[in-house]
Amino acid sequence: MDKKWTPSSWRNFPIKQQPSYKDTEQLLKTEVELSSYPPLIFAEEARRLKDQLAAVSRGEAFLLQGGDCAESFKSFDANNIKSLFQVMMQMAVVMTFSSGKPVVKIGRVAGQFAKPRSSDTEMINGVEYPSYRGDIINDIEADLELREPNPKKLLKAYNQSAATLNLLRAFARGGMADLNKVHQWNLDYMKNHPLGEKYEELATKISETLKFMEACGINSSNAPALSQTTLYTSHEALLLNYEEALTRKDSITGEYYDCSAHMLWIGDRTRDLDEAHIEYFRGIQNPIGCKVGPTMQEDELIQLIDTLNPKNEAGRLNLIVRMGADKIQEFFPKLLKRVEGEGKKVVWSCDPMHGNVEKASNGYKTRDFANILSEVKQFFQIHKEQGSIAGGIHLEMTGQDVTECTGSTSCNITTEDLTSRYHTQCDPRLNADQSLELAFMIADTLHEANIASTK
Ligand code: PEP
Ligand code: CO
Repeated sequence: MDKKWTPSSWRNFPIKQQPSYKDTEQLLKTEVELSSYPPLIFAEEARRLKDQLAAVSRGEAFLLQGGDCAESFKSFDANNIKSLFQVMMQMAVVMTFSSGKPVVKIGRVAGQFAKPRSSDTEMINGVEYPSYRGDIINDIEADLELREPNPKKLLKAYNQSAATLNLLRAFARGGMADLNKVHQWNLDYMKNHPLGEKYEELATKISETLKFMEACGINSSNAPALSQTTLYTSHEALLLNYEEALTRKDSITGEYYDCSAHMLWIGDRTRDLDEAHIEYFRGIQNPIGCKVGPTMQEDELIQLIDTLNPKNEAGRLNLIVRMGADKIQEFFPKLLKRVEGEGKKVVWSCDPMHGNVEKASNGYKTRDFANILSEVKQFFQIHKEQGSIAGGIHLEMTGQDVTECTGSTSCNITTEDLTSRYHTQCDPRLNADQSLELAFMIADTLHEANIASTK
């Protein structure tokens, strides 16, 4: 690998999953314009996240990463952002309460627009169209002209990301995250669900604790941690033209950061060692992730870790394991053993979504909650057997009351229900009910692990 890294050195490498823009002049103009725009995040924030992820890798905190498979221009509105924020707060509080550990929250949000696809074209009603690659690239509508990759969409994606991040920061710092509002995070449509009621019970315990603390003189005004939080942002850095344009040299350290989000990850389809994405990622100093699917080989994973995290820094690299409920036993334990055996410092998190996609009998792309739950449970069990740390969870989820994934005890979505509120732009997401159910299950597991470690 060429040792000299620059924000554009990825251009000298083979690259997968990219659009082919017809109007290259417009593309160049757009890149130049984007390069002059303000960064969306500050490098110091990315360093803070890296420290928090280092704590995750040591088992001192738990990582919750979640949000849409793909954000869209069409469903850009304050309510969507607010409900994602609220359900992530609910999940975090459920997990913190039983584990006694802080939860590091990262949204798949404010930039999660570009999508890898299994094929360059797709057939719709007998017509062949270029595949939809996410709103930052082309339009989802089956229209030959609108499916053409359009460089101007990079600017729209930037603007939507900036506005989304602005609102998230306002929620996180402006009062929405106040623990005194723990009851209000319960989304309206959840209040009469059994899970919503279970959450209410926990929220009541928290409120009582806060009253007690207030009586002791500790409140939101003298302990800001009670009323503020941080929700970091992340996305798959797939469209490197966009990422390069937002890559900036940090004035404090002189190092490069991708200022489009706090954390970026490499998808399972673009992680080849000698290709452009690995080249780009090795030079940015943000905390980064890499998906680890069933085809990952042991030696390949070690080389990948050495390339992306040559100084073996804790918190730098998050390996996001996405095998599938029926494959994790076969493929994950040996990778885990090898990486831990070589003393590599990584965060292990579990993506129980991408290995569990199936086509329902009515043609809808779905995921069954039982498989999602099963992969998460196996992930924890494998770590327990090897004495390593299950650091976090990576979910495609929404605060909306959608019907995209089947099953779960709380809302038991059937195959027929999928037709009711199936709104995803890409892969099926857990709704708020299903997300909360998963959070309670993880909370129980973390609680048991906690008791076992203090015995
Ligand atoms: C995703 O996270 O949306 C995704 C495409 O995942 P993967 O790269 O693991 O398939
Ligand atoms: Co997805």
